[in-house]
Amino acid sequence: MALTFVMVKPDGVRRGLVGEVVHRFEQKGLKLKAMKLIQVTSDLAREHYAEHREKPFYPELVSFITSGPSVPMVWEGREAVSVARTVMGATDPVKAQPGTIRGDYGIEITENIVHGSDSALSAEREIALYFRPEEIL
Ligand code: RTP
Ligand code: MG
Repeated sequence: MALTFVMVKPDGVRRGLVGEVVHRFEQKGLKLKAMKLIQVTSDLAREHYAEHREKPFYPELVSFITSGPSVPMVWEGREAVSVARTVMGATDPVKAQPGTIRGDYGIEITENIVHGSDSALSAEREIALYFRPEEIL
């Protein structure tokens, strides 16, 4: 069974969408393995988004992800990485299909409610950034 890393971003927490996000992953059939409410520090944000360091939107991304509490989670299931990204929808909520989290709840590209790992390797790296092994049940 594969694991993936998902995080409700600060806009999702502020808007009271944590329950809705959890509900959609549960409904799809993924299994919750870990979850907590945390304040992402700038050090953690820079490490998480290291691949985007050179992008024009990087400073905005780091300041947004540290703008309030986030809810990182680990989910398990068959093809969990791609399944989670399908449930989330396209990066830009304007392009995301109705029925996806971003398609139903978003309109801004930075404030797009959720993060999800884009590969098994990213999932492993991101899970280790946010959780100690004993926190994954
Ligand atoms: P995420 O990492 O958050 O799950 O999203 P993603 O894989 O679909 O998108 P990625 O390319 O990894 O980008 C990370 C986040 O950066 C913001 N972004 N802004 N202004 C822009 O052109 C732009 N492009 C990306 C989004 O918030 C995206 O989720
Ligand atoms: Mg990404």
